[in-house]
Amino acid sequence: MRLQQRRIDRAWLADRLAADDLPRWQTMAELAAAAEREIDAMRRHRLAAARGVAGVGARLDALARTETTEWMDRETLSPAERTDMVQRLHRFNRLVLSYPRFAAMLRPLVKERHRRSGRPVRLLELASGSGELLLALDRLAERWGVPVELTGSDIVDSHVRAANTQARAGGHRARFRRLDALDLGSHLEGEAAEPYDIVLIVQAAHHFPAGALAIMIAQAQLSGARAFVLVDGLRGLRTALWLPPVVALVSGGHGKLVHDAWITARRFYANAELELIARLAAPDAQTIALRPRPPALVSLTVEF
Ligand SMILES: C[S@@+](CC[C@H](N)C(=O)[O-])C[C@H]1O[C@@H](n2cnc3c(N)ncnc32)[C@H](O)[C@@H]1O
Repeated sequence: MRLQQRRIDRAWLADRLAADDLPRWQTMAELAAAAEREIDAMRRHRLAAARGVAGVGARLDALARTETTEWMDRETLSPAERTDMVQRLHRFNRLVLSYPRFAAMLRPLVKERHRRSGRPVRLLELASGSGELLLALDRLAERWGVPVELTGSDIVDSHVRAANTQARAGGHRARFRRLDALDLGSHLEGEAAEPYDIVLIVQAAHHFPAGALAIMIAQAQLSGARAFVLVDGLRGLRTALWLPPVVALVSGGHGKLVHDAWITARRFYANAELELIARLAAPDAQTIALRPRPPALVSLTVEF
């Protein structure tokens, strides 16, 4: 079922690229609008083209899609409760060995950047939540023999404070600051330092609409970064079925986290959607690589 949907998506994307008529943009607002339009067109085409059992799958997939805001992003929830939620997500991440897996995905790129530049690799993580990925990366990069300068960022102040406290307590060099992931441009204006080599976003892309993801990629390139890396969950009905019960089990039945897991699985992007967003945002990128990371993840690497 999913296979036919993927084939339809790939054929649509190949046709769009062969026609060489993806919209060009001048401003971030134009880019965001183009990304929303293109993703909408891809989804409508997928529904119209799916036949037989796959047609049922495509309709279920479309029905499952939601724009509901996760509890974690609701300002009606106190900062303390939101930070408690990202800490619980961290415990889930640790249990399912997410950090070594994410680090293994990043390792070739980090090593390559260091080999080319001969200096510490500057990495900025957007929407870093608890910040624990960077703390793990700090330890691992030392083992790889690659010097790194790690900066995490999140829109929620209390996450940033908690991550900085953890970093200091563990003697880590990673630092965290408040940053709206859509505002990378103005953040860098104030920076005297060199640009970041790699801009990273992990397990958070589904929190943003297509236009916002396109802006992040374009702003990363404009800021002088050499690569943008995104890791998120693999879209599919299977994921929607297993993720909420597993989160329920691991979190001891934390209602808001289970709700967010259910919303998360329904908001994940299809692989071809992520590629289309990247091609729109960075039409002159050197490489755009979409890699399934079985069993349940996908990564997108855009090298500028
Ligand atoms: C699912 S959590 C992922 C956290 C972390 N990356 C992880 O894997 O554990 C999503 C994060 O996105 C952050 N977020 C949501 N909107 C944001 C924005 N506009 N700018 C920066 N961070 C944002 C939330 O505060 C939250 O920490």
